Amino acid sequence: MFIPRGVDKVLSERKILVGVTGSIAAYKSAELVRRLKGQQAEVIAVMTRSAVRFLSPLTLETLSGNPVATDLFPKERPYGTGHISLAEWADLVVVAPATANIIGKVASGIADDLLSTVIMATTAPVILAPAMNVNMYNNPIVGENIRKLRLHGYGFVEPEIGELACGTVGQGRLAAIERIIDAIIDGLDISSQLAGKKVLVTAGRTEEDLDPVRFLTNRSTGKMGYALADRARRRGADVLLVSGPSSLPVPRGLRFESIRTAEEMRKKVKTAFPSSDVIIMSAAVADFRPRQISAAKIKKGPQEVESVFLELERTVDILSEIAGQKGDKILVGFALETENGLMNARSKLREKDLDLVVLNDPSGFGSDTNRVTLIDRSGNIEQLPQMTKVEIADRILDRVVEIIRKGGKKT
Ligand code: CTP
Repeated sequence: MFIPRGVDKVLSERKILVGVTGSIAAYKSAELVRRLKGQQAEVIAVMTRSAVRFLSPLTLETLSGNPVATDLFPKERPYGTGHISLAEWADLVVVAPATANIIGKVASGIADDLLSTVIMATTAPVILAPAMNVNMYNNPIVGENIRKLRLHGYGFVEPEIGELACGTVGQGRLAAIERIIDAIIDGLDISSQLAGKKVLVTAGRTEEDLDPVRFLTNRSTGKMGYALADRARRRGADVLLVSGPSSLPVPRGLRFESIRTAEEMRKKVKTAFPSSDVIIMSAAVADFRPRQISAAKIKKGPQEVESVFLELERTVDILSEIAGQKGDKILVGFALETENGLMNARSKLREKDLDLVVLNDPSGFGSDTNRVTLIDRSGNIEQLPQMTKVEIADRILDRVVEIIRKGGKKT
C-alpha cells in the first residue's frame, strides 16, 4: 500500500457529499458530518425522503454549515441544477447509512430521487456503508447487488456484527465512523496520486481469424487489465482501456476501445501512445496469427485427410515497437512464463526497455487472484504473495507512482 498522508491534509478543503438514507442508523450520519467538518472537509448532506423521518435535516444543516438537499425539484435552488451541480461538486460521495433500497436502486440504474440521481451522475468515487437488518443484509439479492456495484468500482464499508435496532444480533450495524472515514481517506488519497496523468492500459486476449467461424486465441479474460484501469482511474488518472474480447463490465469513468486482433490493438496503442504518460501492457497479445485468413469456412475434406498444416506468421510486438519512442514515458509490461520466469522476465525488461515487468503465473488465467513478481530497471525483485487482482493492480500502481516521483527512467 502507498503511505497515507496526514489525515488533516487529506480532508482539508475536500468536498464530500454525505448521502443519508432511511435507516435507524441515520442519526450516526450526524457524527460522520461532525467528524468530517472537524477535519476541515467541505460537506453537503443529501437526505432521502425516508431519512428525514429518522433525522431532522436541521441537524445536518447545522453541523455541515450548508443547506441539506432533499428534493430533486426544489423550490429554492441553493445548488443550481440540483443533481448535476452536486454530482460535479463532490470529490467523493459517501452514503452512510445505505439501505438495501438505495443499493438496489443504484445497482439497477434507477435514479428516481435526488440522492440516486446524484450517484448516477457523479464521476467521483462513491462509497456505500450499508446498515440494515441481518436478514436483509444476507438476502442474496442484496448480496448480488453489492457484488455488481463492487465490480463497477463502487466502494463498500461492510457493516459490523452486533445487536441491531430490531432486537436481533447479526451483521447489519453501520460500520464504525472511523472505518467510514478511513474509507473516505483511502478513496480521496487514491483519487489524487495520478491526477493529470494519462494512463493507457491494454487488457484481455486477441483473436486471430482462421476463417469466418474460427480463430486462435488464449485464456486471458481481462481481469488484471480491467482492475489496473479501474484502480488507475480511482487515483485520478485519465485512463484509456484498450481491450480484447471480454465479458467483464467496462469500469466507470474511463475511455474504452474494444479491439479483436493484435493488429487492431497495435493501431489503437500507436494512436494513443504519443499522448500517454504511462503505458501498461497487460493484454495477452497473440505472437502469431494465421498467414492467410480463408474467406470461406475451411472444410475438413474427404476421409483420407488426416492432418492439416496451419501456417502462422509473427504479429508485430507492440511493446518493442513503441519502446523506441519511450522518452520519459513509463512502460509496464507483463511476462507470462512457464519456466525460467525470472531470467526471461529480466530479458523482456531489457529488450522492451520497460520500467517494470510483472511476471505472472498461467494459473491466474480467469481467476480473481494471482501470484506475481515485480521486477524493475534497477533489478529490484518484489515477490508478492497470492492476492486479488485488484490488490495486485494497486501494488503495480504504487510502483508506477514511485517511479513518477523519482523522475522516471533510471538505468
Ligand atoms: N506484447 C506486445 N505485443 C505482442 C505480444 C506481446 O506488446 N505482439 C506484450 C504483452 O502485452 C506483454 C509483453 O509483451 O506485456 C510480454 O508478452 P509475452 O507474450 O509474455 O512475451 P513475448 O515477449 O511475446 O515473448 P515469449 O512469447 O517468447 O514469451
